Amino acid sequence: MRVLGIETSCDETGVAVYDSDRGLVAHALHSQVAMHEAFGGVVPELASRDHVRRVVPLVERVLADAGLALADIDGIAFTEGPGLAGALLVGASVARALGQALERPVIGVHHLEGHLLSPLLAAPSPAFPFVALLVSGGHTQLFDVEGVGRYRLLGDTQDDAAGEAFDKTAKLLGLSYPGGPALAALAEDGRDGALSLPRPMLDSGDLDFSFSGLKTAVLTATRKEALTDGRRADIAREFQHAVVDVLVAKALAALGATGRERLVVAGGVGANRELRERLTATVEARGGAVFYPPLAFCTDNGAMIALVGALRLAGAAGGVPEAGTAARLPPESAAAGVADAQAGAFGVRPRWDLASLPAPG
Ligand code: KG4
Ligand code: ZN
Repeated sequence: MRVLGIETSCDETGVAVYDSDRGLVAHALHSQVAMHEAFGGVVPELASRDHVRRVVPLVERVLADAGLALADIDGIAFTEGPGLAGALLVGASVARALGQALERPVIGVHHLEGHLLSPLLAAPSPAFPFVALLVSGGHTQLFDVEGVGRYRLLGDTQDDAAGEAFDKTAKLLGLSYPGGPALAALAEDGRDGALSLPRPMLDSGDLDFSFSGLKTAVLTATRKEALTDGRRADIAREFQHAVVDVLVAKALAALGATGRERLVVAGGVGANRELRERLTATVEARGGAVFYPPLAFCTDNGAMIALVGALRLAGAAGGVPEAGTAARLPPESAAAGVADAQAGAFGVRPRWDLASLPAPG
């Protein structure tokens, strides 16, 4: 089964084809980072308009790279949420239109489920069950994952997400958006122990996180001394150590609490080198294993959406679904149900709880 995946939830347009027998066949991405950079963050209306410009040419490019025609596609997956409403609607519109025209099933995919299962795009890929640490710009969560759609939330952030903390701290240090990679690069030049920042909730005894206090501590540190290049690098280094300390400790605690041996790390912050090195060393020292998505699929992409679409469309139909039968997740709210009841209508879910997802089938 060949599934076309379309991701447009935020500031990257991602398109891919995933084949349930052959794996990932082709993928393409357009990042809007350069466009939003001047504004210091994502401008939602600009994001939507850029997705409109990019998505169809990207679909054409991916099909050409795969040597496929539209008629060779067995199903279409798109990011239904969470994300920016206008941006999500672009992917939803294109997916629904293609589904109608080609008479193929269309499935709305949860963006975080895409991140969560993206390590399945790597070789070797993790077997179920595993603990997943989801660290993106909007989320910092630990899940116990028993299988596709079987996700139990173990811990969550009480305020800022890890990526958000990276981005806000980077801004305080005068780095441009998106701050995570820039801050990580600056941290390379810093010295260990030049200052001390808090490790919020390190000893809270649960699996929850909090990062807003750390950001405030950085703000205080930036005012304490002249912000020379050296000082900025020292702050960046200590900030990264603090975030990584907390993420490593909580991930280990989650493995302990669930008795799982495999840890999967997904989401943009999973691209952070210090986090990867420390997690791998610590978990392997305990006889466990850590799995990451390929680096290109840590941040937003179409491949993870096509992958989830293939897994769920196959599961929903007990094999290859019949043409024209749209696999639908049950509506989360009464409002979504009303929208779905109108012929031809479709919606997106800018806010959507991952733990509410059903297993396929
Ligand atoms: O998963 P993602 O692409 O988008 C969301 O769904 O949020 O994650 C983006 C986040 C941003 O906050 C970005 O600064 C962060 O991931 N990020 C990093 C690194 N690369 C991306 N944070 C720390 N170190 C990195 N190397
Ligand atoms: Zn994402």
